[in-house]
Amino acid sequence: MQPERLIIFDTTLRDGEQCPGASLNKKEKLEIARQLALLNVDVIEAGFPIASPGDFESVELIAKEVRGPIIAGLARALPKDIEAAARSLEKAENARIHIFLSTSKTHRDFKLQKDKGEVIKMAVDAIKFGRKFCDDIEFSPEDASRTEPEFLAEVVEAVIDAGATTVNIPDTVGYSVPDQFGKLIASLKTNVPNIDKAIISVHCHNDLGMAVANSLAAVKAGARQVECTINGIGERAGNAAMEEIVMALRTRRDFFGLESEIDTKHIMACSRLVSSLTGFFVQRNKAIVGKNAFAHESGVHQDGFLKKKDTYEIMNPCDVGLDASELVLGKHSGRNALSDRVTKLGYKLSQEELDQVFTDFKALADEKKEVFDEDIVLLIQKETTVDEALNTYHLVKVKMAFESGTTPTAAVTLTSRDGQQHSAEGTGDGPIDAIYNAIDNITGQPCRLLEYQVMSRTKGKDAQGEVTVRVQHENRVLLGKGIGVNTVEASAHAYINAVNKLLVNTKSGPVDGGDIQGP
Ligand code: KIV
Ligand code: ZN
Repeated sequence: MQPERLIIFDTTLRDGEQCPGASLNKKEKLEIARQLALLNVDVIEAGFPIASPGDFESVELIAKEVRGPIIAGLARALPKDIEAAARSLEKAENARIHIFLSTSKTHRDFKLQKDKGEVIKMAVDAIKFGRKFCDDIEFSPEDASRTEPEFLAEVVEAVIDAGATTVNIPDTVGYSVPDQFGKLIASLKTNVPNIDKAIISVHCHNDLGMAVANSLAAVKAGARQVECTINGIGERAGNAAMEEIVMALRTRRDFFGLESEIDTKHIMACSRLVSSLTGFFVQRNKAIVGKNAFAHESGVHQDGFLKKKDTYEIMNPCDVGLDASELVLGKHSGRNALSDRVTKLGYKLSQEELDQVFTDFKALADEKKEVFDEDIVLLIQKETTVDEALNTYHLVKVKMAFESGTTPTAAVTLTSRDGQQHSAEGTGDGPIDAIYNAIDNITGQPCRLLEYQVMSRTKGKDAQGEVTVRVQHENRVLLGKGIGVNTVEASAHAYINAVNKLLVNTKSGPVDGGDIQGP
């Protein structure tokens, strides 16, 4: 008998992007959506179209460009939100409007100030309105796990009658525990007469570290869609991590008896892409995608592992896209070898992009003895995710002087978009501070450095460093990234990247100044 299928609904670009500090531009979102399509997710929630013009355009772009998965847009239970979602999804091959409305007592009393009857009416009206644009309507009773179970059942029955095809049960504040959450799903299956007319979905937050466990308990109880994100990113402590859900199903098929359609060998590439573009590093011991997830340190483990792998390993690293054997790329490698590696890494580049990556690869190979897969991924990202519209300033030259007991000084030269060169000097508490002050003297937009991180992204003494900065200008906080073998230059690039974003003003507020409340 064929195992039943679990629908994977990815919300990295909506709930994931909504978390503090993660802000992606349109090109970056499209890049992630393409990787999600390679992973073969069933649904990509591409954004919350009414939230900002930028969000609307991203959903529109993904709906136009990405084929395969259903593309979903989020909407409150309001006609203007639903209309915006429908418009942004017009070009999608398959579209879904995801409507949400709070149902718990606290949310009803304090957030919505509506009684139970009003909430049901609002949900039903919204679904009927949504069905005018789209046959695929998902409804989420927000804060479902803290809603009175009888009322939740009433809402679910009413929205299915009104035309919802998927009913999502969110544990919005990560309050549930697996046994209780599984029972909630089981009770909906028993007590809602029309439950068979819709797919039951779950959406769990990780405030108590139980998002994956709660989701899997719900699956065991009959949920057939899980909402999740790559690396588990999301509002506050995040959402259920997709890679964990998928690999749990696969590794414990004996227990769950379910399959997903995910092409798991793209998991690592997708995880690295999301981590790099959001600036959220994956903890080393993170299940499935952490650096240590398939590494063995203790002598006893190594001994057992060498005798038989499954003494200490329950999954094959190749299944998630890790390559046990390494083919070394260096300065003698040609374009074909690079192109082959790029394809194996799951990227599809235009000829022009490949030419540029090849030029950068040759330059890097001259600096480094070995160019690893991670290096190639960084080169590709540099080429494919830089938004030209953001490139107001380019670094031409940086020079710094530092001697113990003296104040560090730096001299920086930048070109602006009109091709003019600008030079300035700066001093600071340290050499990087001096460089950043020199840049401020050129741009005239002084920023406060909130966070500065250097990560070695590749291997060896001559590894490429990735510098991530978070800077604040007035009430805006921006993320900047720079990559290079020379960390000082990479630091300057990261700061310039953040300042360029500031100058372009990419992220705007609600279109109509309305009261958007992050779900
Ligand atoms: O956490 C939540 O309740 C949500 C809903 C919009 C599904 O994100
Ligand atoms: Zn959520």
